[in-house]
Amino acid sequence: PPRIVVLVSGEGSNFEAIAEAIERGDVVGRIVAVISNRPQARALARAGRHGLPTEVVDHTAYSGREAFDTALAMRIDAHGPDLVVLAGFMRILTPSFVDHYLGRMLNIHPSLLPAYPGLDTHARVLADGMARHGASVHFVTRELDGGPVVLQGAVRIGIDDTPARLAKRVQVIEHRLYPQAVAWFTSGRLHLSGHRAILDGIPLDTPRQL
Ligand code: GAR
Repeated sequence: PPRIVVLVSGEGSNFEAIAEAIERGDVVGRIVAVISNRPQARALARAGRHGLPTEVVDHTAYSGREAFDTALAMRIDAHGPDLVVLAGFMRILTPSFVDHYLGRMLNIHPSLLPAYPGLDTHARVLADGMARHGASVHFVTRELDGGPVVLQGAVRIGIDDTPARLAKRVQVIEHRLYPQAVAWFTSGRLHLSGHRAILDGIPLDTPRQL
């Protein structure tokens, strides 16, 4: 089966959704390593509960982004992955790192990209009085949260919503989106061609919606 390396920084609920989808047989693939940049990430315990191997590459031990990314890439490449999955991995990646994994690295972002790249998306969406919000799975390119979007899911925003409540509803969507996108990739249905995502031979000029 295709070899998957997952990068995490925190809770790891998206990682776990993918791990469970593999266990159910909904996604072909094998998670060969779960790598965290934070030693205390709860994702590491989740991986342990699924019997999956974990590693820590602590970014605070490196002198800068280049040194960290070089070390991280060496650890990833030791596993020979077909796909690198960013699942709540909260580090900005250097261009050379991104280029090295171009076409084989996916990310999930909590907004309907291209709207709201960056951090604190839920609070910003609410402050702007938006009616809709959601999450996007995209190929990672040099542009932060700017790579071709593969799959999105939306939620309606209520008048009594808070960033925390919204985040929870978006995460429910995320846990359906990410396994689907990974399944497409590992089954050979999804790839990157130039700056376009291709699904079943058809360019996704507008992302698929859940
Ligand atoms: C997810 O909501 C994901 O979309 C977001 O972090 C959360 C991680 O949750 N990612 C980003 O904001 C990336 N910039 P998890 O650790 O439980 O999967």
